[in-house]
Amino acid sequence: MENLITKINSLKDAAILLLAEVKTLPELEAWQIRYLGRKGDLTALLRGVKDLSEAERPLLGQVGNVAKQALLEAYNAKQDQLNAGQNISGEAFDVTLPGTRPAIGHLHPFTLVTRQLEDLFSKMGFMVLDGPEVESEYYNFESLNVPADHPARDMQDTYYIKDKKNLVLRTQTSNQQVRAIQRFGAPLRVICPGRVFRCEATDASHDSTFYQLEGLVIGKDISVSNLIFTLKTMLRGIFKKDVNVRLRPGYFPFVEPGFEVDMTCLFCSGKGCSVCKRTGWVELVPAGLVHPEVLKAGGLDPKIWSGFAFGLGLSRLVMMKYGINDIRLLLESDLRFLQQF
Ligand code: FA5
Repeated sequence: MENLITKINSLKDAAILLLAEVKTLPELEAWQIRYLGRKGDLTALLRGVKDLSEAERPLLGQVGNVAKQALLEAYNAKQDQLNAGQNISGEAFDVTLPGTRPAIGHLHPFTLVTRQLEDLFSKMGFMVLDGPEVESEYYNFESLNVPADHPARDMQDTYYIKDKKNLVLRTQTSNQQVRAIQRFGAPLRVICPGRVFRCEATDASHDSTFYQLEGLVIGKDISVSNLIFTLKTMLRGIFKKDVNVRLRPGYFPFVEPGFEVDMTCLFCSGKGCSVCKRTGWVELVPAGLVHPEVLKAGGLDPKIWSGFAFGLGLSRLVMMKYGINDIRLLLESDLRFLQQF
């Protein structure tokens, strides 16, 4: 009899220990059958009662019942625990494990650099303007001193809107120049970041959709040194160090004089490398002093007002800042690329 009581109690202890290892409902069911089932281990032990004397039977019956009750309670508690932590597929999971972080989006490098530039220019007193991507030929060309038969029209291959006379996809953010002057008058300081389109064959540094950032300042006695100071301040803000610039003559019908502004190549610090074709300089931005015809188109008197404008190739600046060697990656929406920013 002593022996049987010990066996029942050790069976109960072993069963409860094993229950702690049970992780799923099917495992729990197997445990239940093994210890509490009709053919289970406890039932088998309790069958030994019949061999005991009349006097011994009640005590053993009681020990047996206490063990069974303990196992049943443990079983019910475990079942509740597993049901609470069950997912749709029926598998149990540990609700105390740390969760998987939900994927949160990234800001596109265009957005990052645009925001940085907007911030920088705002601090210099510039307004930030948005404008139409589908634009009239007037604002994209004519107001900028480029009439229909002007050879400079061929400098930018244009997408025309089918059946809509005089509408184009803007080829440059310069479309905002006369719009801004007409709307706000002078003096004026604006930047206009945006998407532009050209019907061009694409390669590592040319896309048919890309981003520019136009800058326009109108005031009295505005000179090239104001332009250089502004661009250098911008470069210091973006690259966190002083960057040198140089001017080469450049032609755009809406500026006079016109320049191509180059900056020191940051890949080689101006020593010469494959990126800068061994010159130590990379093209940064075309710019110039606002042409009197543009001021007039905006309703300003060129004898009183002067200004400078620049048209930053934002896509190329983003490439330089992040060391991206193919412009087409920027608009491919490949997550492997985008997740790096
Ligand atoms: C212009 O678009 C003029 N509106 C710039 C300007 C503004 C001049 C104000 C004077 C005053 P351009 O066609 O060179 O200029 O383009 C300007 C910049 O856009 C280039 O320096 C280059 O960085 C970028 N760019 C031009 N074509 C592409 C292209 N296909 N893909 C990517 N970037 C381009």
